Parts: sequence; structure tokens; C-alpha cells
Amino acid sequence: MCGIVGYIGAREASDILVTGLKRLEYRGYDSAGIAVLNGSVKVRKKEGKVSELETVLNGQPVDGSVGMGHTRWATHGVPNDVNAHPHTADNGRFAIIHNGIIENYAVLKKQLAEKGYTFTSDTDTEVLAHFIDDVQKEANLSFAEAVRQALTQVDGAYGLVAVSQDEPDMLVVARNGSPLLLGIGEGEHFIGSDASPFIEYTRNVVYLNDGEMAVVRRNSYEVFKIDGAPVAKEVHALEWDLEEIEKGGYEHFMLKEIMEQPEVLENAMRGRVRLDDNQIRLGGLADVMPQLVNAERIIICACGTSWHAALVGEYLIEKHTRIPVEVEYASEFRYRDPILKDGDVVLVISQSGETADTLAAVRQAQQAGILTLGVVNTVGSTIARETDAGVYLHAGPEIGVASTKAFTAQVVVLTMIALAIGKERGTIDEGTLHTFLQGLTAIPDQIRSVLAQSEQIKELSHDYKTADNFLYLGRGCNFPVALEGALKLKEISYIHAEGYPAAEMKHGPIALIDRFMPVVVIAMKDAIYDKVVSGIEEVAAREGAVIAITEEGNDELDDLCKVVLHVPRSLECLEPLLTVIPLQLLSYYVAVLRDCNVDQPRNLAKSVTVE
Ligand code: G6P
Repeated sequence: MCGIVGYIGAREASDILVTGLKRLEYRGYDSAGIAVLNGSVKVRKKEGKVSELETVLNGQPVDGSVGMGHTRWATHGVPNDVNAHPHTADNGRFAIIHNGIIENYAVLKKQLAEKGYTFTSDTDTEVLAHFIDDVQKEANLSFAEAVRQALTQVDGAYGLVAVSQDEPDMLVVARNGSPLLLGIGEGEHFIGSDASPFIEYTRNVVYLNDGEMAVVRRNSYEVFKIDGAPVAKEVHALEWDLEEIEKGGYEHFMLKEIMEQPEVLENAMRGRVRLDDNQIRLGGLADVMPQLVNAERIIICACGTSWHAALVGEYLIEKHTRIPVEVEYASEFRYRDPILKDGDVVLVISQSGETADTLAAVRQAQQAGILTLGVVNTVGSTIARETDAGVYLHAGPEIGVASTKAFTAQVVVLTMIALAIGKERGTIDEGTLHTFLQGLTAIPDQIRSVLAQSEQIKELSHDYKTADNFLYLGRGCNFPVALEGALKLKEISYIHAEGYPAAEMKHGPIALIDRFMPVVVIAMKDAIYDKVVSGIEEVAAREGAVIAITEEGNDELDDLCKVVLHVPRSLECLEPLLTVIPLQLLSYYVAVLRDCNVDQPRNLAKSVTVE
């Protein structure tokens, strides 16, 4: 989720680039950089926030009216000055910035190294820069043509901008999987990951589609497909203001983050779930896989929503690997003198990578000489750095305090970890693995179909805005979803809610049920469906208002429940990825109706870095 900005015109480029990058910081940042053309390509880049880059620029300003800038959210290589973009090639003759992942970068890097290319960073982007150089020199091409031909040989996602000192009056832009648009001005043009960097200069934009490129000059731009065919583009007039743009047009970051889950999960699986050769490739675990395969126990530690993902992970890992799993609140683990022994692995889950209790669990395990793994979203965060190995979510920054897309990305990553270990241990056969890989691959589109019901969920939320209490019930791997649904509602709407395993209802919560108690029941048609239905009957008998989440085509609950929401059918262990979506939407719409501060609920912090 890096941010990209570009400018060509008559104004001072570096001012526009730095202001634009600041506006793109909401997309995530661990470093930032710009390149400006002034006879040669001048690059300034720095780890940290855009303000750090600004300090560098104050000391070493760059003049010029053509340039590009980038905020990085690392995917390859730790966040530092060297890995920051832009990356140059051929002794600084040209530079590129890139948002996305070049999947075949390892193969390209090997080929280039054999030809004598050397690399200063750990990034896939630098590989792409050298590859463009190689393609250009091999066939003596113009710069734009070299970029185009190189991209035809690249697998993966990119939003890309390139500048060359040989052809200084143009920017070359390409998009495949990462958003990019052009801002059309008078004698000047802008480029952005969204329109926020240039909204005060022009509201006329051209959206690039996947597989399209553009050559952008001061007074003209040409758009064509990566295969070279010209494309006629329409100019759209933007109506959004700055804040709306940052939220992707949604009213709140939380809603944006709920809605972007299909793409987030595609990113989390990209290059990792390999249907064609029935593989899961998790580069971050390659070195420790022998230890994982022989693990005698896996202890998962986390807090909040990440702890709920851990509970789903327990089902997944035990099912596919037959390794016993224990799930601990990180805050409890650290203080209860846990028994840790040879053969144990401690896996921590943290969106921020900075939660103090989770970090303490990592340190405690390491003191006991135990292998630690991290499932973390924020690249370069403390937990990501201190764990021995791990897998990033690649979910992009999560800004809404109530976690949504990180939860589903965590469940996807845990599924991939379980399948990868299971395959190595021989506890999952090739056929079952294939079925799971197909199931995972289908999830993003299935989530799209659940998100398409958001208007219906918005409507029904009116009936619940005055509720004082909610009960959430689920069984098996949907029990953690019941906990997560209850937590979402509590966090943002301040309605008291509890999650329970459905069968435990009769041991207590049933005493609370009357006609004022909405009860959300996740009732997928799995092995214990009939037992869940018995629970629904008990609630209905006490006039409780049941909102059931079940699978498409199941109309058996229609008479028993007040509301029935449907999600597509999936494999049992993958159901949480679908059943959680209506619960996220319900809590969001109820909180909006109650006029709550959805993105920053009272008393809560996005990242709890103190005890
Ligand atoms: C806070 C946040 C939650 C989050 C929890 C754990 O309580 O408000 O949304 O689930 O911390 O955070 P982590 O970054 O470690 O996943």
C-alpha cells in the first residue's frame, strides 16, 4: 500500500511531491523518497516519516519541474534508507518508484547477476530497474519502450513511475494491480495513487486500468496497453474533497477497510498460494520449516482481535498438522511463568507489531531459548524485527481502531501456515491440500458477494440501534467469530455484547434472554449444525430475536429467526473469513446510527504499546 506521486509542469516539483507524499502517508509509511530531474536524476530518500525526508531536503534541496515521489510500506527488505524508493539504474541514468510485488524478481535477479549487475538494496524494485536497463540496452530502445517491454516479462502487481535523464520531458507510468491516476492540468500533469496529492491543482483525472501505461509530458499524455495498443481515455471530473479521497470515498476508514478485504486477501495470498503446483510458498518461514515440522507444541499469543484470529488458528493448525496448539492472551502468558520446553514454538499475532504484552511474550520465549514466529502487518515493527521468523499480512495500513481487514488477513496467513506445515509433515494429502488452496482462492470473490449485502445490513441495523445487550453464539471455528462479532459491537457502538460457544448458552446466558435481547447465531451447515439449530429454538422459545448467519440456499431457519443472512458455502475451517463480514458490517452500521466515533472509539487505542 505504498503511495505514489508524480509531477511534470512549470512549478517546483519537490514542493508538490513532498506535500503529496504527506497526504499519502495514511496509506502507510516506513520510508519516503523523491527523484527530481535537473540535467541528471537527483534522488533524496530517507527511512521514517515524510517529515524526515523533508529534513534531508532542507539540507540538500533539489530544483526541477519534473519528478516523482514515493512513501514505502515495505514488502521486500527491511525499512531503511537503502531500500527506500526511488531506485536507480545505470549509475543514476534513470530512476523508478514502484508499488506492488514483482513475483518473479528472484529469477530476474539471478539472470541479471549472471550478466554482471550488482544490487545495493533487498528490493524487488531495484531488480526491476536493472531489468529495464538491460532490456533497453539489449535492443537499443527508447526509455518508454524499454519500460513497456520489461513489464511484459514481469509477473506480479505494480503501480510504477519512471524518469530518465536521456528523455527529461516525460514521465513513464504503468499500472497492474496497484491504483494510479493522472491529474490533467494546463501545461502540467500530475500522477497519484489517489487524487489527494493534486486535488488543489486539478479535479480532472484519467484513471489507468490494470495493464495500461502512459507517457506523460507537460502538454500531452498518451495511454496504451502494456502490449502496445493505444487506448482512448475519458477525463473524469472529481467531486471528492481531500478527506473523502483518503477514505476512498467511504464515510469512515473502518468501512473502507471492511470493503477492501477482498483485495487485501488477494494481496496476502499473492505469490504464496500456488494452485498450479499445489504449493504454499512462505519465504519468511523457509529457514525454520525443519523446526516447525518437528514442533511438539505451538503456543499462540496475541491480544484483542488478533487473539480471536489465534483461536481460529488453533483449529486450523491442529486440523492440518496434528501438532497440539495452545492459545494464550499475551498479557497472561507473560506473568504466569509458562512451562516452555524443547520442541515448543511460540507464534505471536499482531497487526501493529508493537503491542507491549505481545512483545513481552516474544522476549520471554526467547529467553527460554524457544523459536518465535510473528504474524504481523506492519513491516519493520518491533515484533517483526525481534521474532526469529514470520509471515507478513500485506494488508496495508489499518487505520480504524476496530480491527477488520487485519483479522481476515491473519486467518488467511494462519491457514497458509497450517497447510505449509501439514504438507511438510505429511499430515495433509495432496488432494485435500488442493481442495483447500481452491477454497482459499475462492474466498475474495465470496467476500465480495457478502459485501454486496451491505445495504440490507444497513437497513436492519435500524432495528438494533437502541439495544442494550447482544449475545453472539457460534461453534467450532465460528466460536471465535462470535467473540469477534461481540468485540466489534462493544468497541464502536458501546453496546454490551458477549460471545459464547453456542452449547454453553444453557450454562448461563440463557437466563438473560427475553424479547429485548438480540442473539446473533452463526449456523453454518456443518457437522454440528443440528445442535446449533436446537440452540436457536431455545432462544426463539424465550422470544429472543435471532439474527442467523447461515449458508446460501438454506431456508430452514426462515421461520425460526427474525433475520437470516446468507454467506457462500466454503470449507468449514475457512468459514470465519465469510461469517465475520456481516458481523463487521452490522456493528459498523449500528455504531453510525448511534452517532459514535467509529474510527476512534472512546478510550481505545489502535496500538497498545504500554501495559
Ligand atoms: C488494540 C486494538 C485492537 C487490536 C489489539 C491488538 O486493543 O484496539 O484492535 O486487536 O490492540 O493489537 P495488535 O496490533 O497486536 O494486533
